[in-house]
Amino acid sequence: MALVNAAEMLKKAKAGHYAVGQFNINNLEWTKAILLTAQELNSPVILGVSEGAGKYMTGFKTVAAMVKAMDESLGITVPVALHLDHGTYEGCYKCIKAGFTSIMFDGSHYPFEENLAKSQELCADPDECKTIADLGVDMLAAGIGNIHGKYPENWQGLSFETLDKIQAKTGEMPLVLHGGTGIPADMIKKAISLGVSKINVNTECQLSFQEATRKYIEAGKDQQGKGFDPRKLLAPGFEAIKATVKEKMELFGSVGKA
Ligand code: 13P
Repeated sequence: MALVNAAEMLKKAKAGHYAVGQFNINNLEWTKAILLTAQELNSPVILGVSEGAGKYMTGFKTVAAMVKAMDESLGITVPVALHLDHGTYEGCYKCIKAGFTSIMFDGSHYPFEENLAKSQELCADPDECKTIADLGVDMLAAGIGNIHGKYPENWQGLSFETLDKIQAKTGEMPLVLHGGTGIPADMIKKAISLGVSKINVNTECQLSFQEATRKYIEAGKDQQGKGFDPRKLLAPGFEAIKATVKEKMELFGSVGKA
């Protein structure tokens, strides 16, 4: 099935009180693992590509070509959107030209460390969110105490009060929750009940991949027989990504919603 725009997918999710997962991709293994899991679970899915990952994969054109061809070759029938994650103005333009079906313009304009620090202490202003919603964007990611990467021990949790106010001001607009890694299940469920229809997960797949690969090597399996073959070496990490994606899709409630 051709790649689809994320807007319809998220409207449906908001109406159905579940969230669609955005899983970031880094290479072929990541893409294949996420697509196959979505198909097995009959779930819609969004493949996220950061500017850095796009560059790593030699450019957005390569990424779009790979995703489209893989979607077709694997016979994927569930809705798949290819989304630019935290795009610059130029990046958004390049991705639209390359065939991405969804883009995020990150206008936060802060260096990462400062952005992260501010995200930890600040929450988005509900009135600013309303102004953005009125512009007619398809989805909105607002900071409600969420951060990228692992949450620190002293993390205060998501601010549901802010989310509630944002939801009240933005109405039908699907809301996006970044930093899905490590948010406890009850908070995820509450966020979905308050209008979150898209949840981004990146670090957790990286950690699953890393842990499984480490185990394989530490067990010396890369030195047994043809265990050094990259198709064997990367297989445990691939399976680990699949398991993480499955767990998230079940938690987000998108299983069977394709
Ligand atoms: P995590 O890496 O914390 O899962 O965040 C992913 C994300 O929000 C991508 O935009």
